[in-house]
Amino acid sequence: MTTKDWWKESVVYQVYPKSFQDSDGDGFGDLRGIINRLDYLKELGIDVLWLCPVYQSPMDDGGYDISDYYTIDERFGTNEEMDELLEKANRLGIKVLMDLVVNHTSDEHEWFQKALADPDSKYRDYYIFREGVDGNPPNNWRSYFGDAAWEKVPNEENLFYLHAFTKKQPDLNWENEEVREEIYKMINHWLDKGLGGFRIDAILNIKKEIEYGQLEVDGEDGRAFIGHWILNKPGIEEWLEEMQERTFRPHNSMTVAEADVPEERLAEYIGEDGYYSMVFDFSYTDIDVPATGEWFVDSNWTWQQMRERIFNSQLMTQRNGWGALYLENHDQPRSINKYIPVEHINDYSKKMLATLFMCLRGTPFIYQGQEIGMENITLADIDTFDDVATYAQYYRGIASGLTEEEALKIVNHRSRDNSRTPMQWDSTQQAGFSGAETTWFPVNSNYETINVENEWNNPNSVLHYYRQLIALRKNSPYQENLIYGEFVPVAEKNKEVIVYERQLEGQIIRVLINPTSVEQRVKHDGLNYFVIGNYPVENDMLEESFVLRPFESIVLANYGG
Ligand code: GLC
Repeated sequence: MTTKDWWKESVVYQVYPKSFQDSDGDGFGDLRGIINRLDYLKELGIDVLWLCPVYQSPMDDGGYDISDYYTIDERFGTNEEMDELLEKANRLGIKVLMDLVVNHTSDEHEWFQKALADPDSKYRDYYIFREGVDGNPPNNWRSYFGDAAWEKVPNEENLFYLHAFTKKQPDLNWENEEVREEIYKMINHWLDKGLGGFRIDAILNIKKEIEYGQLEVDGEDGRAFIGHWILNKPGIEEWLEEMQERTFRPHNSMTVAEADVPEERLAEYIGEDGYYSMVFDFSYTDIDVPATGEWFVDSNWTWQQMRERIFNSQLMTQRNGWGALYLENHDQPRSINKYIPVEHINDYSKKMLATLFMCLRGTPFIYQGQEIGMENITLADIDTFDDVATYAQYYRGIASGLTEEEALKIVNHRSRDNSRTPMQWDSTQQAGFSGAETTWFPVNSNYETINVENEWNNPNSVLHYYRQLIALRKNSPYQENLIYGEFVPVAEKNKEVIVYERQLEGQIIRVLINPTSVEQRVKHDGLNYFVIGNYPVENDMLEESFVLRPFESIVLANYGG
């Protein structure tokens, strides 16, 4: 029997603060904007809010490059406004998670600046500085974003620093106890303010196994993917345990780590005494890209693989602890464009994805705009993008033989900027996001139809469908089963569909999903209570078998209220 915890019963909403709501007309979202929209989040029914980084940052990587952990970036507001946000959210019964980015800092962080300025400074040992080999960097690692992972230190003959992400994100040296102490102090500073917890960025990378020289090349760029040497390396567990012990555990925090952990180590991470409450696994959100993360290599995925990955992920997580569910975040394009061919994008397919995802076992994370079915944006020019990773992928694609046109098409499909466009609130200028002439990133041109106001006024909208799905977990006869029930895959004869159940003490909820554009026949096993569906129910439902219409999703149960 799964133990009960508040964070298992929560539904989380992720906000990308730059793009949620601008309150002061500078075209850039801010904390005041979020405070003003908390009532909307309350009405939606969520009870945890995850804020992407709002700390001081040069914004080279959307705030994941922090130059001061203790200060709110002035574009977002002030520390007092952060306190106010926490206070109002807590009053509404919404817990707030901040983003914890401690694999690296910004190169503009004072520690790094001091490290550069003085070779004898103690801050040299806060980062990973190494001598080059034969006039080259220490090794030929490729960073996650595609370029070299070592950057030469200016004014030094043969010295380099490590950056697993951009060169403006030097990696911290976790071997140094003083660095760890600084980090724990900072985490406790925020937790003491009444945070619900943290979403923890890139944490599997903190332990490095550095080898020197030319390592086995795995791409046309003559480099080797850094992940093999810095992902989940032995020894990492000591620091994860130490961090948990010193910070999260005493605060009874909710923690969700960005950590694609292999099954043999999963219990350590998410078991009863694990390092985290839950982790994000990437298995079905990254189904469209190969393991090396190269966007321009098509994985040619199918829905049958998708079903297998979802089921594996569910079963594996269930065997070991608790999981986080998500279809979208700030690192992914919009889910509807990823999973559904453009000619089939409509409210049926959007609601189908919502049903598939919201009834799985785990804590659901809804990304801003997902609840209204926001879609990818199409940009005509590479220079209009903002995201560093998008540029890296674009140029790597070209280096691998793509034309500029092909590379642009690919980044339009996969860019992280697709989900970072301003939130669409209404059909006024800038979609109600901002009063500015120009916003930091363009608003999607479909805002006049896809926006919160329109959908709020339409009981059949994607937005109200999400509200109903959330309410099923919050206040319905199905709530206990949807939260704590066992996930059970159903081996339906028709291999085109996805069918699974949630089971709790004889209560059965069955989720039937048709992810195809044609009708699919499925068996009907006498579950006669209709829970939710994206089409009006039809009478033949009570026959031995019935037809799922294109992109139909229906949830049935053997009990009801
Ligand atoms: C995580 C973040 C991503 C960021 C990277 C480096 O993957 O989600 O947005 O670019 O870490 O901090």
